[in-house]
Amino acid sequence: MSSESQRAKHVAIIMDGNGRWAKRKLLPRAMGHQRGVEAVRELVRNCGDLGLECLTLYAFSSENWKRDEQEVDDLMNLMRKFIKSDLQEFIDNKVRLKIIGDWQGLAPDIVEMLEDALAKTSAGDHTIAVALNYGSQGEIARAAAKAATMGEVTTESIGLHLDTADLPPLDLLIRTSGEVRLSNFLLWQSAYAEMLFVDTLWPDFTVEHLQEALDNFAGRERRFGGR
Ligand code: IPE
Ligand code: IPE
Ligand code: MG
Repeated sequence: MSSESQRAKHVAIIMDGNGRWAKRKLLPRAMGHQRGVEAVRELVRNCGDLGLECLTLYAFSSENWKRDEQEVDDLMNLMRKFIKSDLQEFIDNKVRLKIIGDWQGLAPDIVEMLEDALAKTSAGDHTIAVALNYGSQGEIARAAAKAATMGEVTTESIGLHLDTADLPPLDLLIRTSGEVRLSNFLLWQSAYAEMLFVDTLWPDFTVEHLQEALDNFAGRERRFGGR
């Protein structure tokens, strides 16, 4: 398959490296997370122009509860602040917000804010999917359990019950900060996704970095097991 003109429709990012960014600058970790939110904001503003149908962002994993209470609190407060300050921008930029993961398990006030944001952005023409309290193994287990109640458990029936069922197939998975692992993110969806691991720490990741990643993707040859 010639891949010269292929364009990514669905990109996912493991936004890693906020803590190391702060450490290098002798700042508190919370500052790294705050700058990380600013990087997210820039992508939200531009992802329509990049031609993406969906950008999926790993914001908080089901394992991140293991962090100390102060850091978890800081992250939850940043989330509250971000929804309040940026919801109107989502609407103005025609972004449809989607949340994946066990987000109903977050604090009730955050769940309420998210429900409101989901309703107000439902008419958007491209999607930002945010993974909150997300773990891929849990997602697959939930999907398999649902599939089992409805009939035969097959790859198709599991796929239909994943949190991402209504999203286009994943084309490209990016992880920042130099770590080369998936950390329980989109394990099922990554079966044939292209992967890109970059050293940039998340707060330094810009629209130009994303454009570079898309250019890199455009030149890859995908085979899906064929030849
Ligand atoms: C990613 O940055 C943000 C979240 C996991 C919420 P980290 O906080 O993991 O940053 P590092 O990996 O410690 O540098
Ligand atoms: C993955 O990063 C989760 C997010 C980016 C939200 P982590 O920093 O939690 O992953 P590990 O612990 O290095 O594998
Ligand atoms: Mg990390």
